[in-house]
Amino acid sequence: MKLILLGAPGAGKGTQAEVICEKLSIPAISTGNIIREALRNSTELGLKAKSYMDSGKLVPDDVVIEIIRERLSKEDCKNGFILDGFPRTVPQAEALDRMGIVIDRVIDIEVPDEKIEARMSGRRVCGKCGASYHIDYKPSRDGVTCDACGEKLVQRKDDAPETVRERLRVYHEQTEPLKDYYRGTGKLRVVIGQEEVADTTRETLKALEA
Ligand code: AP5
Repeated sequence: MKLILLGAPGAGKGTQAEVICEKLSIPAISTGNIIREALRNSTELGLKAKSYMDSGKLVPDDVVIEIIRERLSKEDCKNGFILDGFPRTVPQAEALDRMGIVIDRVIDIEVPDEKIEARMSGRRVCGKCGASYHIDYKPSRDGVTCDACGEKLVQRKDDAPETVRERLRVYHEQTEPLKDYYRGTGKLRVVIGQEEVADTTRETLKALEA
């Protein structure tokens, strides 16, 4: 299965990608995670992306398209993959088509902007391995350190309220048009994000089969 997860920042794409990845044994590919790892390692890509990411803007198309081209050429993508956070612009979707990749399903997770702002303020991430938690919905065992590696949890710089508002603006302007792009292919399914993660997961799995 080749799957795209669409949705506003904080709609729950990463959370759902984790579940589907385990269920279908296919890799979840998050351009955001790839860029954040490059940032942690101070690579050329990380340095190039930093100012865009920190201010809530999209990293230029040519940079992310190259990241995806390289990642999808890896052996573990042979039997399918989940794209979480790519494409995010119509030119990115067109580039994916030009790579000859035929997507089976596009799931759009819908959550109103007001709920997103509240969710993002509670998100905490591990500064070392990147694992993601939420102070109310998905707390780590002790609430302060990462369950996986023990590192202290921190708030993402781009989860500051004013940056979240800018990310939402960019989403409505540049990413939302992708809904029409994929609606035209008949592959789009809309999932209404629920209060509980498990309820959203149930709807997402249903949408995969519909
Ligand atoms: P990226 O990391 O992709 O950020 P995003 O799309 O803004 O998405 P998030 O990771 O913030 O949210 P999510 O939808 O995965 O939600 P999550 O599951 O974590 O990108 C960051 C930046 O990188 C971009 O701004 C851009 O600069 C750059 N970038 C990346 N890809 C790019 C591209 N293709 N082109 C250009 N630039 C690119 O959930 C959020 C929180 O809510 C969590 O705490 C979670 O626990 C909680 N939660 C989840 N589901 C529920 C639920 N049902 N109920 C309650 N809480 C929930």
